Amino acid sequence: MNKNIVVIGAGTMGNGIAHTFAQTGFKVNLVDVSQDALDRGVKTITTNLDRIIAKGNLTEDEKAQTLANITTFTALEDAVKGADLIVEAATENIDLKLKIFQQMDAAAPADCILATNTSSISITKIASVTSRPEKVIGMHFMNPVPIMKLVEIIKGYSTSKETFDAIYEMSKVLGKVPVEVNDYPGFVANRILMPMINEAIYSLYEGVAGVEEIDTVMKLGMAHPMGPLQLADFIGLDVCLSIMNVLYDGFKNPKYAPCPLLVNMVTAKKMGVKSGEGFYDYSESKKAEKISKQFAK
Ligand SMILES: NC(=O)c1ccc[n+]([C@@H]2O[C@H](COP(=O)([O-])OP(=O)(O)OC[C@H]3O[C@@H](n4cnc5c(N)ncnc54)[C@H](O)[C@@H]3O)[C@@H](O)[C@H]2O)c1
Repeated sequence: MNKNIVVIGAGTMGNGIAHTFAQTGFKVNLVDVSQDALDRGVKTITTNLDRIIAKGNLTEDEKAQTLANITTFTALEDAVKGADLIVEAATENIDLKLKIFQQMDAAAPADCILATNTSSISITKIASVTSRPEKVIGMHFMNPVPIMKLVEIIKGYSTSKETFDAIYEMSKVLGKVPVEVNDYPGFVANRILMPMINEAIYSLYEGVAGVEEIDTVMKLGMAHPMGPLQLADFIGLDVCLSIMNVLYDGFKNPKYAPCPLLVNMVTAKKMGVKSGEGFYDYSESKKAEKISKQFAK
């Protein structure tokens, strides 16, 4: 079983992945180009561990051990020297990922498995820039990682059975449910989810119904915990657009064309929660308005 884990990227997904490995007992080197992102990542992990303690599912000692299992780095080369498994969770940008995989391939031990948490970029393409395509695989965790059970395990064209089996078993050790998937655009999760979100945006664009009405139909009618437009805001509208473009480019089928309203919103920098506005308003003034309304009651 792999023991020394490296996670590249300390953002939303990277800190959740590092948390999950560290809490299971693995030593984790967490790497980010930004010291601020590393500091924020460790802070988020600490807050999330406190939440688990509050629910009675973790002790203070286990929290201390989990945090002690994590070491932070800004230099990838230093972090990957003794690695058995690297999980890359840096920004979703193909050129960046290809560069990181070349760096990882040059600096990591020859038997180290190189996994990526990409939402949509071809595993086969990423593997093609390394000298070990049989050891490259997709390990697609869901957000928030410490809570969500699913991991899509994506086999690139050259991924070996040995690599697949190791990552499948590792996911189970982490308490997750692995699902075997082949390397085609969007894999399974985003191939099904993103066209649904895109169709919800088309319904709004064509005036079929309003934002809250569309979300209410899906929440109350289909028992979805969150409506598709609100979910898009949480994922980030730029991320939704980039995944639709991967599906459209990959299949050359017009059914995957991103809705013009989605394109316009991203161009106008309305990215959802992270920019303060998407289909809903998350700005400080709106939050303040909500709070003062609560006080008025
Ligand atoms: N956010 C989600 O819901 C979600 C779900 C599943 C998969 N993903 C995938 O996970 C990956 C990360 O997404 P995220 O939402 O955590 O992004 P994020 O923007 O929150 O974090 C990305 C981090 O990568 C760092 N980074 C950039 N270049 C780097 C480099 N060269 N070396 C090391 N770190 C670098 C950034 O500083 C940032 O901290 C993407 O591939 C994304 O598609 C995201």
